Amino acid sequence: MKFFVDTANLKEIEEAQSLGILDGVTTNPSLMAKEGITGSKNIINHYKKICEIVTGDVSAEVISTDFDGIVKEGKELVALHEQIVVKVPMISEGIKAIKYFSENGIKTNCTLIFSAGQALLAAKAGATYISPFIGRIDDISSNGIELISEIRMIFDNYNFETEILAASIRGPMHIIDCAKIGADVVTTPLKSIKSLLNHPLTDIGLEKFLNDYKKGNK
Ligand code: G3P
Repeated sequence: MKFFVDTANLKEIEEAQSLGILDGVTTNPSLMAKEGITGSKNIINHYKKICEIVTGDVSAEVISTDFDGIVKEGKELVALHEQIVVKVPMISEGIKAIKYFSENGIKTNCTLIFSAGQALLAAKAGATYISPFIGRIDDISSNGIELISEIRMIFDNYNFETEILAASIRGPMHIIDCAKIGADVVTTPLKSIKSLLNHPLTDIGLEKFLNDYKKGNK
């Protein structure tokens, strides 16, 4: 399973990259705004900086909601760097644009997926990735992990190459559950990845090993 970080914070991206387990980055307009990155020039420069830090795919989201606008913006974004993947919303104009991009060798990430039907349509259009927002589904008392499971079954039934990129991750158990089901990618805040490191028995065991070493080397 690939690990992406879901952030526009350069320090977090650098830290994730330094762990040696990072496969890519996803961003969205809300994450950019959270870092105080506003205005198209600054946003574009920020994407370039992210691409210089990581070696994998970097999702950059379009703002347009009509076919011509999405295609124009998407072309401008991919011209920035070879690692850019165009993030397109799950709307009919978005599906048309994903089809266009896939026929023209441009990678896409179809975002704001909340149902298996939406995932199926995006895969039919040739999306490289689809992003089901599992945390937001859990937030409304439904089951985000079940959605990943349904999509996995559908994609496997028809050998779709579209990768399931589980997004809106709320904690380490979401990552584990996605791995069990066979999501291709999780995109997550760095905090959730770092939580995977922790186990009290590891801490206790390490302390004992280090103390025993000290005793034996007095
Ligand atoms: O990148 C999109 C997605 O991960 C958003 O997550 O936490 O805003 O639901 P969240």
